[in-house]
Amino acid sequence: MTVSTDSPPCTELPSIAPLMIGPLRIDPPVLQAPMAGFTNYAYRHLVRQFGGAGLQATEMISARSFVWKERQQAEHPDRLWGVRDEPRPLAVQIWDNDPEVLARTGQRLVHEYGVSVVDINFGCPVPRVSAKAHSGSYLLKDPDHIGEIVSRVVQACHPTPVTAKIRLGCSRDRLTAALVAEAVEQAGGAALTVHGRTAQDFFRGQADWEQIARLKSVLRRIPLIGNGDLDSAESVVRAFRRYPVDGVMIARAALGRPWLFRQIQAALRKEPVPADPSADEQRAILLQHFEHILQRFGEQKGTVLMRKFACCYAQGRPGARHFRSLAARVQTPREFRDVVANHFPGDPTTSGTSPDPFAGSREPSDSNRIACPVD
Ligand SMILES: Cc1cc2nc3c(=O)[nH]c(=O)nc-3n(C[C@H](O)[C@H](O)[C@H](O)COP(=O)(O)O)c2cc1C
Repeated sequence: MTVSTDSPPCTELPSIAPLMIGPLRIDPPVLQAPMAGFTNYAYRHLVRQFGGAGLQATEMISARSFVWKERQQAEHPDRLWGVRDEPRPLAVQIWDNDPEVLARTGQRLVHEYGVSVVDINFGCPVPRVSAKAHSGSYLLKDPDHIGEIVSRVVQACHPTPVTAKIRLGCSRDRLTAALVAEAVEQAGGAALTVHGRTAQDFFRGQADWEQIARLKSVLRRIPLIGNGDLDSAESVVRAFRRYPVDGVMIARAALGRPWLFRQIQAALRKEPVPADPSADEQRAILLQHFEHILQRFGEQKGTVLMRKFACCYAQGRPGARHFRSLAARVQTPREFRDVVANHFPGDPTTSGTSPDPFAGSREPSDSNRIACPVD
């Protein structure tokens, strides 16, 4: 099915088939996005506990520093925390612009870590990655080079599938996604995820799902995964109804709501969507998250790291601002637990399982967005 801007939307929710990434069956076809600084083992563990994410991803890993650490026999980056042992399927995302460095890293991730998917980042607009290191979204202006990279990494990682995550292009007047999609597929890539913004957009405006949809007619064999601004079970159902994507990827909306994937899964099965956990339950989830972080990073670093996660959990709830102002200053585990116990925002609505399929979801709003310009 090819949908362009002029095509009438498909209104019935089609039955949603699992997504195939090479030999890997992703069911449901809903992916947890890579997010630097956030999607570490502690977060992935919580998402896994709730269920509903067909494929989870790590934060992006610098292939260059991975190879450098290997030469120095230094310890592997914190970003690989948990990767060796956690349940599969699991995708690890890597970035660089050198096919050999990426191939070497991919090969080790496959052979030593046994990862299920190696994903390559061609979307990051952050200057450190793009302008300075000529990687991430910088490469969108050179589809041939992207093809070269994918081809080399595919060869090195065989038979583990290699995927690519892109934006629409460098800027609105330079939308190269179709050429990049073609290059990725021809080079042997196993799936393409598209964030419906350009690098220049950062996180401004809205993701352009019409542009994402156009890529369906370019890809002949591999699945198209749409990404951008999906923030509830309802919005995912709407995306599948309206656009010819094979899967969707969720990032910011699930940061403080690791249960969102479970809600999406229910909606796609046309089952009642479980309500959000109550405030008490969310408090307990947040503290569980904290315990994991403490175990890995220790009291001082762990507490500081946890501030941003705590803010995510409170986002969009009445009283979040006050909570954030306190959580942003905590220095010790005890202070953190006190702030959570006494100031975590209460329930905005009643809890419990609702027969209304979308009662548990929040309405999209800018106030519950994490505007962090990384990709
Ligand atoms: C804090 C943060 C970190 C991110 N880190 C990465 C990353 O490491 N790799 C990547 O491909 N995208 C990264 N992204 C982009 C997301 O994966 C996703 O493409 C983008 O947020 C749009 O999806 P959303 O509207 O569901 O948030 C990051 C986004 C945020 C907000």
